Amino acid sequence: MKSAIIIYESLYGNTKKVADAIAEGIRQRGDVECRVVKTGEIHTDEICDYDAIIFGCPNHNQAPALNMSRFLERAAIVHVKGKVGGVFDTYTGGNKGVALGKLGQIIKEKFEGIDLVGAGFSAKVDGRKGPLAEGEEDKAREFGIMIATRL
Ligand SMILES: Cc1cc2nc3c(=O)[nH]c(=O)nc-3n(C[C@H](O)[C@H](O)[C@H](O)COP(=O)(O)O)c2cc1C
Repeated sequence: MKSAIIIYESLYGNTKKVADAIAEGIRQRGDVECRVVKTGEIHTDEICDYDAIIFGCPNHNQAPALNMSRFLERAAIVHVKGKVGGVFDTYTGGNKGVALGKLGQIIKEKFEGIDLVGAGFSAKVDGRKGPLAEGEEDKAREFGIMIATRL
């Protein structure tokens, strides 16, 4: 059985919903187990135990949320060559993919050789506290399926 982990940050719960929907997509195939954890719930050393490592957080001031950036700063440079990676963010207004792009760049630099699935997934929330815009959870599930297919 292959394994995946989704590490997320979320202030109002919307990014957690996206993380859970991606996990559903990953598990749908039936041959990949998936754990979902918040940044504060896991030691950075544990992330290399998984075949796929996915990171997601809200856009805060055009950048990944601080708790995610701090988590990534703390993470040791582990051997992830050949592992599958994924990134996602949530945003409001016209900021689709802005924090996502920065998050992807950090991951590529920190975890050299990780095989990132596309440019990742950016989910819109209606207003700062949400809820998630219509259809975004379905798209998140599709992203999860793409990740599982890559494994
Ligand atoms: C301090 C703060 C700064 C934010 N800055 C932006 C921003 O620059 N661009 C944007 O699209 N959304 C911004 N947002 C909205 C967040 O992206 C939104 O609250 C988040 O996607 C909701 O996810 P969550 O429920 O997981 O916290 C900001 C929110 C907060 C709290």
